[in-house]
Amino acid sequence: MSARILVSIGTRPEAIKLAPVVHALRALGSDFDVRVLATGQHRELLDQALAHFCIEPDLDLDVMRAEQSLADLTARLTGALDSVLDAEAPDLLLGQGDTTSALVAGLCSFYRGIPFGHVEAGLRTGDPTHPFPEEMNRRLLGPLASLHFAPTERAAAALRSEGIPAERIHVTGNPVIDALLWTAERLDPRERLVGGRRRILVTAHRRESFGAPLRSICAALRALAERGDVDIVFPVHPNPKVREVTDAELGDLERVRLLEPLDYPAFVAELHSAHLVLTDSGGVQEEAPGLGKPVLVLRDTTERVEGLAAGTAELVGTDADRIVTATARLLDNPALHAERSRRVNPYGDGRAAERIVAAIAQYLG
Ligand code: UD1
Ligand code: UDP
Repeated sequence: MSARILVSIGTRPEAIKLAPVVHALRALGSDFDVRVLATGQHRELLDQALAHFCIEPDLDLDVMRAEQSLADLTARLTGALDSVLDAEAPDLLLGQGDTTSALVAGLCSFYRGIPFGHVEAGLRTGDPTHPFPEEMNRRLLGPLASLHFAPTERAAAALRSEGIPAERIHVTGNPVIDALLWTAERLDPRERLVGGRRRILVTAHRRESFGAPLRSICAALRALAERGDVDIVFPVHPNPKVREVTDAELGDLERVRLLEPLDYPAFVAELHSAHLVLTDSGGVQEEAPGLGKPVLVLRDTTERVEGLAAGTAELVGTDADRIVTATARLLDNPALHAERSRRVNPYGDGRAAERIVAAIAQYLG
């Protein structure tokens, strides 16, 4: 009889990072019965990402509400996911990262004695409230999971230091690099052309930045736009808490293009064309060095320290002056820009899904 694996996917980054794993599991044929559960924590963002990777969910909890609170989302997800686990009774539930969907998947599988496999395990900033609530979610997932897929040696060491048995930890790389390389290879060559002014690609959506920090990021972007020698491309997260600020602060600027969320290939094409990247996204911090793009991280802490160590990323926080100064340094110093544009892939080699699937096959016998 084939082993039943349920893959839980809630948000855009989970879709992008688990898509290579779903395909690798399905490539093994009848040994595994693989079903995809969309929690629907995200709607348009999730559907857009899944469509690019040709994944149609077998089940969809459709839980997203406008401006959902963490507690309300957690409560709705818990009841709905538990019913699915009852009906599906999988041999393994697989989840990714540090979202509410991932946490609830780990918790519900624990309640039912179903092993939970955690992709992207072991990331830590060391500050329980940053990023919020993601750092707490991933810490809680450590003891809940039975299998831990750590992207890097550093992540594996963090798990061991928290008492996770070494034989349950597999250093696999992050499947975001599998997704990135797969997508970048298939880009229309015309989309890779860089023309016109240098482009700064921006994304910002973290809960801890809502309000004043996000306004401060926007003030920095206004100042950079006023230089006149750069174009700013900013695909905006659909969260109304983000949009109300970006629309008010940046909506009228000629050199700032506020875009709807881009589908994954379009975003990768923008990344290819960008001169540098300003972001608070975890996934983008992992992808940009793979394409040789310097990153300024709009956060006070990061769990993706490998990019800092490789010298391609710099933490700049959310203070407007600091962002402008750091960005101007990169724009005005070609030697520094070249040094930060080395292609490095500390987060994976494009074969993470293969390793994750091999470890799952071994675990399930
Ligand atoms: C969530 C994750 C965060 C991840 C991010 C990726 C948690 C606690 N946060 O944050 O770790 O970095 O996803 O994008 O799990 N919305 C839409 N359409 C969508 C998606 C969101 O309209 O497709 C709006 C809704 O009003 C929703 C709000 O955004 O209520 C917030 O969504 P939520 O998933 O709670 O948080 P994110 O900020 O997206
Ligand atoms: N991304 C995308 N379209 C966009 C912005 C981002 O496809 O308009 C991709 C990006 O390449 C990365 C992922 O979405 O793989 C990051 O998701 P997000 O920033 O929502 O979440 P985080 O990584 O911060 O958890």
